[in-house]
Amino acid sequence: MMCRALYFAVVAAVIGLGFSQSDQVSLMIEPADRKLLVLAGEQQKLVCKATFPNKGDQVVWQLAHQQDGNITLKIPDAELVDGQYTKTLDLTFVKFSAAYAGKYSCTYIPFGASSPTHTSTIDLVSVSAQRSDVAYNYGNETVTLHCTANLEDAKFSKWLKNNETIEKGDKYDLDDKPFDCVVNYPAGPLVLDMDKSINAVEDDTVNIDCDVKGWPTPEVEWWVNDEKKLENSSVVSFEEYKGVKGARLVLTGVTFDYDGMYECRAYSAKFNETSKKSIKLRVKDKLAWLWPFLGIIVEVVVLILLILFFEKIKKKNGSDNPHPHEQ
Ligand SMILES: *[C@@H]1O[C@H](CO)[C@@H](O)[C@H](O)[C@H]1NC(C)=O
Ligand SMILES: *[C@@H]1O[C@H](CO)[C@@H](O)[C@H](O)[C@H]1NC(C)=O
Ligand SMILES: *[C@@H]1O[C@H](CO)[C@@H](O)[C@H](O)[C@H]1NC(C)=O
Ligand SMILES: *[C@@H]1O[C@H](CO)[C@@H](O)[C@H](O)[C@H]1NC(C)=O
Ligand SMILES: *[C@@H]1O[C@H](CO)[C@@H](O)[C@H](O)[C@H]1NC(C)=O
Repeated sequence: MMCRALYFAVVAAVIGLGFSQSDQVSLMIEPADRKLLVLAGEQQKLVCKATFPNKGDQVVWQLAHQQDGNITLKIPDAELVDGQYTKTLDLTFVKFSAAYAGKYSCTYIPFGASSPTHTSTIDLVSVSAQRSDVAYNYGNETVTLHCTANLEDAKFSKWLKNNETIEKGDKYDLDDKPFDCVVNYPAGPLVLDMDKSINAVEDDTVNIDCDVKGWPTPEVEWWVNDEKKLENSSVVSFEEYKGVKGARLVLTGVTFDYDGMYECRAYSAKFNETSKKSIKLRVKDKLAWLWPFLGIIVEVVVLILLILFFEKIKKKNGSDNPHPHEQ
């Protein structure tokens, strides 16, 4: 009987585990941009990473234009990873041109449904760049490089050499490597996916980073449990992350009160648009490891006592009524 109880307990635990798997849908396009400027004539690859609950669900790219020989589309089978199905769909423009500019969406259609329930979109803009060599004559004091963009709203950002920002006064040896001109182009806010949850122990310092895209740089706010905006306090502070002010939330010495759902909201006034993602913070007891450990010990002791008890009863029954059929 005991064996049976144990068996049911194990089965229940396994079923519990099965149900605790989250069945969330996530669609992530790489590069992670709302709007992407693509150089005409260049190859450009878009990747949609999809996670979904059922094998029969569909994930497809919706193209701004009819597919033709200049676009290649790879549609793999769904793979099962940690109880969730995943697919990585590549969409490659062999040679990008203005004819392919437009919105491309990665969409999720649940099994049996006729229209998508989740969509992630990227807007491709075609740009052309002309590089011209600038002659430097030995002996000249200076040489001047020009950078102009023929895009409305585009704004010069910086010059790069060997992928590093050129600061005033920097000196370079002349080599074959080009100087790159970086131009900013307005794009709505986009908060990249965060982990689903983060665990902390009481008194820990917790950093939560929010990867924010968009230009002009969006303003970041942090909200807890969808109801309270986080403000500076002895526990809460904000730092810059990847060049975005306040995109890192620092909680110094967390207590149980800080257990909850944390949401990063990025707002762009230019687009009047907000993008947000959230993460669950679980604050655990410092002695959290002790309780399951004690639980197991108590369980073992109870089991041993039960076994001893039943053995005793069996023996007792046995001696009260020895071999009745042999009489
Ligand atoms: C690919 O693009 C080129 C122009 O960039 C065009 O001439 C050609 O017809 C396209 N290929 C197909 C199969 O449509
Ligand atoms: C370099 O010197 C040549 C000849 O003196 C001159 O014609 C040219 O404009 C100079 N270029 C620059 C960028 O100063
Ligand atoms: C240049 O740096 C950026 C980030 O700073 C990186 O994403 C990119 O891959 C680098 N490019 C090259 C050619 O190293
Ligand atoms: C938060 O506090 C820090 C230092 O205590 C201060 O530098 C910062 O300006 C404050 N920020 C806000 C938004 O009050
Ligand atoms: C921003 O959008 C909201 C609706 O999403 C609208 O109510 C509000 O008036 C807009 N604000 C501006 C400044 O356009």
